[in-house]
This record gives sequence, C-alpha cells and structure tokens, in this order.
Amino acid sequence: MFVASNEATVTPWEAEAFVDYDKLIKIFGSKPLTDNEINLLKSITGEIHPMLRRHVFYSHRDFDKFIESYRSGIRCALYTGRGPSGHTHLGHILPWIFTKWLQDKLGLELFFQMTDDEKYWHSEGGNIEEFNRLAYENILDLAALGLDPAKTHVIIDSEDIAFLYPIAVKVAKKITFSTQKGAFGFTESTNVGMIFYPVLQISVAFLPTELYGERVDVLIPAGIDQDPYWRIARDLAPSLGYSKPAQIHNKLLPGLGIGGKMSSSKPETAIYTTDLPEEAVKKIIRAYTGGQPTAELQRKLGGDPDHCPVFKMYEMLFEEDDKKLQDRYHACKTGALLCGECKAELAERVARFLKDHQAKRKAAESYVDKYLIRNKFNPPRIRK
Ligand code: TRP
Repeated sequence: MFVASNEATVTPWEAEAFVDYDKLIKIFGSKPLTDNEINLLKSITGEIHPMLRRHVFYSHRDFDKFIESYRSGIRCALYTGRGPSGHTHLGHILPWIFTKWLQDKLGLELFFQMTDDEKYWHSEGGNIEEFNRLAYENILDLAALGLDPAKTHVIIDSEDIAFLYPIAVKVAKKITFSTQKGAFGFTESTNVGMIFYPVLQISVAFLPTELYGERVDVLIPAGIDQDPYWRIARDLAPSLGYSKPAQIHNKLLPGLGIGGKMSSSKPETAIYTTDLPEEAVKKIIRAYTGGQPTAELQRKLGGDPDHCPVFKMYEMLFEEDDKKLQDRYHACKTGALLCGECKAELAERVARFLKDHQAKRKAAESYVDKYLIRNKFNPPRIRK
C-alpha cells in the first residue's frame, strides 16, 4: 500500500500536501530529479522552467532516458490526464502549465485522458452525464492555458473507448487481481469498474505507439500518487512490445487552509478557474498563513514561508522572478512583510490571472472540437 510519511496518505484517490517528498521518493522507489537531468533538458530547451529550478517537479523515472531518446530522434510524446470530478482548480493546472512548456519547447504531441468513467465508478452515487459534462468543461481550461489544439489530443473515456480497447484487451490479460489489490488496495466490495479502470489509464501510455505504427517513447508529467499505474505499465510494456513510459512527478499545491493539498473536498481552500475574481480574493484574504497571530509578533519573530500556503502559491505559480521570490522569502522571515500585504498582492495577481483565463475559456467554447482525438485520428485496430 502507498502510505506516506507525516500521517499523509498518498494513494491515487487521496493525497495530502505538506508531505516529506524525500520520503515519498523512497517509498515509491522513484529517483530525485537532479541537476543532471535538468541540465540534460536545458541542453535542448536552452532555458529551464521555474518549476524545475524550484523543484516543483522533484522526482522521476527514466526522465534522462526519455531526453536521450528525444535527442537521438526517436519519436516522443507526452501523456497526462484528469479525473473530471469538478471544475478545475489551481492545483490541477500546475502540471498542465509545465506540460504546455514542454510541448512548446520540444514540439511534442500531448495525449490527455479525461476519465469520466473513473470518477463515476469512484463516486458514491454521482451520474455519468455530469462527469462527462465536466470533462468538456475541463477541456476549456486546457485551451485557456494555450495547449496547442493541433498537438493536444483528448481522449474522453466514455466516448473514445475504441481508441483504448484494442490495447486494453492485451493489457488486461497481463494484470492479475492480486496485482490490482496490491497496487490499489481494492477489496471484495470494490466495484468491478474500478477494478478494470487501471487497464484504461495504462493503455493510453501505449496509444501513441499504436497510432503512429512505430516506437513512441512517452513521458508522463503527473503527481506521484499516479505512480502505481505506471509501475504496472512499466512492468508489462516490454512483453507487449512497447517502451516503458517515463515519469516526472510534481509536488501538490497546498490548499489555503491548514495543511493538505488544494482539494475539491475543501472548496473554501481551493481556487477554481471558474471562481469569480472577487470570490478568489476572499478565499486568499481568509487563507491560513505561516504568520504570527499579531502584526507585532510578526515584526518581532517573522513568519514561516516554508509552511505557508500563500508563499507556496508565489513559489509554485505566481512569481516567475527568482530574485523577487527570494526577497519575499526573506522579508517574511525577518518580519518586514506582514501577511496582509503578502495576501493582497497575491489576491491581485490571482484575480488578474482569472480574468484573463476566463476570457480565454469562453473563447475556447467555439473550438473545443479541435482537441478531441476522434476528430483527428482513427482508432487503432487489431486487424491490420
Ligand atoms: N487518474 C487520474 C485522476 O484521478 C486521471 C488520469 C488519467 C491521469 N490518466 C492520467 C493523471 C495520466 C495523470 C496522468 O485524476
């Protein structure tokens, strides 16, 4: 089972935010992302995204091999996805922003899975029509972030199964119930949708190879909580003639409350891309911080930016400039900067982002179709 440190649990369906990431690397058996891998990437991209410099992406499997494949001219692709259980919040778009950067810098196609089926099977009650509707809502966010529609191919599970099933039949045969139970903690009362679901998430990793009819090496940017899928995918890939998918893992954006990741289960601590800017501002002003109880104490003792969700928002999303981020860190630690000012500045940046993002989201309604895989490719076939 995938129980992490600090009483924080990290399974694909439950993950906390201020976790000990070094310990997670040990538990999951991945590798820390070091200057070696970062410089390898830099040799191609010429520059390095702040999320790499700041170790927001902190762990990987075979990222170095993936870059080597790219350099040697092997066809490469990106894969990530989303369980459309609600509107998108800032924690969700964090890896997508980085994925877009990789897409632009490396000129790669991205396969994006929307798992309306998974979220339906996982929910108590719920209806599939609603999860399906949310899948389309979430595509608007991909569009607003500027993911290239010509190079971004969205698979909606409940509608595009023909793209996955020819692969899934082969994958399913290689996975036993015992493996599933060990990896995901399934029990006798887990519905069989959930039990089958991992086959579909794994199958997308092999889809590019099937679509292009040649070896395609795939890199998956995602949270480490998705790792159980990829471990199974990597185990069975060689026996099916596919490359093992590589991974790069991001840290989770903390929620604005005390501890925990930004999560739809605590909407008051999450900023959704659909929140009115005024709503978002309120959430930020009410946020928990690493500050002292009074301004006087803050001036005297300073704050604790390392455990402050407001500072993390700057670090992970809203301050590109390293020098300015450093200055903010020190101003907080020395008590020169009070939480009220720090929150007000963040609120302004977030409100500006939301206004812009929402205008782009609206504009994207007219071209969502351009992202759908079914409008661009034919499904792979068993019979060649
Ligand atoms: N299981 C993921 C979720 O619950 C959705 C998902 C599908 C995904 N394929 C993926 C996430 C690939 C990351 C990478 O949100």
